[in-house]
Amino acid sequence: MTDQLLLGQTLRFSSDPFSGDPEAAAHISARGGVLVRNGRIAAVGEADNLRRDNPIATVTDHGDHLITAGFVDGHMHYPQTAMIASWGKRLIDWLNTYTFPEEMKFANRAYADEIAGRTLDLALANGTTTLTSFCTIHPGSVDAYFEAANARGMAVVGGKTCMDRNAPDGLRDTAKSAYDDSKALLEKWHGKDRITYAITPRFTPTSSREQLHVLGALWAEHPDCLMQTHLSEQIDEIAWVRDLHPQARDYLDTYEAADLLGERGLYGHSIYLEPREIDRLAEVNAAVVHCPTSNTFIGSGLFDMAGLKARGIRTGLATDTGGGSSFSMLRTMAATYEIAQLRGTALHPAQLMWLATEGSASALHMSGQIGSLNVGAMADIAVLNLASTPAIAQRSAHANSLWEALFPTIMMGDDRAIAAVYVAGKAV
Ligand code: GUN
Ligand code: ZN
Repeated sequence: MTDQLLLGQTLRFSSDPFSGDPEAAAHISARGGVLVRNGRIAAVGEADNLRRDNPIATVTDHGDHLITAGFVDGHMHYPQTAMIASWGKRLIDWLNTYTFPEEMKFANRAYADEIAGRTLDLALANGTTTLTSFCTIHPGSVDAYFEAANARGMAVVGGKTCMDRNAPDGLRDTAKSAYDDSKALLEKWHGKDRITYAITPRFTPTSSREQLHVLGALWAEHPDCLMQTHLSEQIDEIAWVRDLHPQARDYLDTYEAADLLGERGLYGHSIYLEPREIDRLAEVNAAVVHCPTSNTFIGSGLFDMAGLKARGIRTGLATDTGGGSSFSMLRTMAATYEIAQLRGTALHPAQLMWLATEGSASALHMSGQIGSLNVGAMADIAVLNLASTPAIAQRSAHANSLWEALFPTIMMGDDRAIAAVYVAGKAV
């Protein structure tokens, strides 16, 4: 394959913009370029230099559009795509009323294939090149998702959602079948092509102690897999966990007691954390995943980004579709900004962009592989039009810096701002 040279404005990071001056962590070039070779980023730099050094590369000039790493969604539910924006409920009612009936449909493999393909296409249209998804209890829903990702060449994370109680008939497995099915699926998929398997107990209320324990044992047998679940999303949910586990010190302890707390664990939401839970997450270097449009949509609460980042806790960013109300990581960054404002912190656009790319990649232990424009990363790339609507264009037209030009797209942009997407160097 001949080398490919993408030209435009470029944005990449050499460090975490939460530790120190956010702008110093970023490298921006008003006339930069990215050289793609065999699906990876082979060079980044100034457009003129890259052209001179690579005279036979195929050039795609994106003008003054912004070339950035493709977005990495650190937590979502592809089976909830068709019921996004369902009205009027909070978490437990929302699950029972809208979510579980929809997830029941994934017993039908053809339906799973249709929604998996639809979800990945919606993600790509929004500049998201990696999804981290819960599937349903049905093993076929996992095959559908990974096959659809492979057909698109995408790096994805996912796993069979396990639940053996507090879910309707037809949507429960058992401790044994959860272990057996998850083991068979991870042996089939983990590490194949660009697939990463995540052992996936939905959350404490829907797993018996026995199920949590066998999934902890499975993770210990396959420690290179990720583990994803939910933690402390709503007050009622936490009270329910306390009723179900009166002996537990806190919500996280219900996972910890089952060996489901670890460095490769992803704890979605993590809003109402006790000091001990924060200490333990920090000690084991686990990752939390912020789902801001979901947290406002289902009325969950205000995630403490500044506090958790100050404790050094690895933090990813996610849509949480369909609890989240958008497929767009731009909308997700806007909601992140708004929630942080309500907590008294103004996040810098560099911090928002980093969270949506390298932050999520780091939560997934894929730093340097995805979510990055640095040399050696896979060429999963999004190209942003910073003047995609009249309202955005009239604001960015008189910006004095790239940050000022980008921020209106973060706050007001959507899929119209995605000018191009590349997956492993191939234009979508
Ligand atoms: N907690 C347990 N399951 C879910 C889910 O599907 N969505 C959200 N937002 N929270 C959950
Ligand atoms: Zn979720």
